[in-house]
Amino acid sequence: MEDEENISGKRIIYYDHEPAYQALRQKGESGWRSGGKSAPFNLYWNIFKACELLPPPKARVLDFGCGGGEFSLLLAQKGYQVIGIDYSRTAVQMAEENAKRARIKNVKFYCQDALKPDLKFSSFDAIFSIAVLHCLLGQDRMTYWNNAKKLLKKEGVLALATMVDFPKDKNWIKELKINKRTRTDALRHRYFASEKQIRAELESAGLEMLYFARRNDVKDKKGCDDLIIIAQK
Ligand SMILES: C[S@@+](CC[C@H](N)C(=O)[O-])C[C@H]1O[C@@H](n2cnc3c(N)ncnc32)[C@H](O)[C@@H]1O
Repeated sequence: MEDEENISGKRIIYYDHEPAYQALRQKGESGWRSGGKSAPFNLYWNIFKACELLPPPKARVLDFGCGGGEFSLLLAQKGYQVIGIDYSRTAVQMAEENAKRARIKNVKFYCQDALKPDLKFSSFDAIFSIAVLHCLLGQDRMTYWNNAKKLLKKEGVLALATMVDFPKDKNWIKELKINKRTRTDALRHRYFASEKQIRAELESAGLEMLYFARRNDVKDKKGCDDLIIIAQK
């Protein structure tokens, strides 16, 4: 579809997270998940860590689509030198405030598009990305994979979590008006790629899959499985 493509290098915005973060801020929230509902960041960390594929602390790592920076802060607390980027200005402000509140210094946040990052290539030992891939549609998905690869040092690892396959919860499908054919919700801010498609994207980006697990214990209540991936450059 034409509106899902980059035309003349100019990105067509199909969904903008910024107004959503502004609304969250108005409600006094400090990150993507509202109502005090926190993502299972510790669980994600424990899964990644258990694979014994992550670089040791002090390594330079990137949180790609960091939102309010909660996972970036967890990584900083583990001793990594962390950079978090998100294209939502308000999310980045929240992340900076969260870091200040927690008095964590080994983390920096920048408002940047993961599809056009202004960061040095081959400069990260690891890239983490929680719940971002499923926000991308069309060709932007390959741009995301390719950019992650470019930003990694040789043998650096990309550790990510994303929703996979069509959700099972009928109420949620109805509530978000998820279209079975296009696999997106009506707002077009979630794309439910199949496991097969994600495997093909990873392969096409030329990343080596080190760990690939489908989990239903880290999902939210919406009945959509999570795919946890660790891939190497
Ligand atoms: C579901 S939220 C998850 C945020 C955070 N990783 C977390 O787990 O709380 C998806 C995030 O991806 C960010 N995002 C989506 N597309 C992006 C892009 N092209 N560049 C940078 N950030 C993006 C959104 O602004 C949002 O913060």
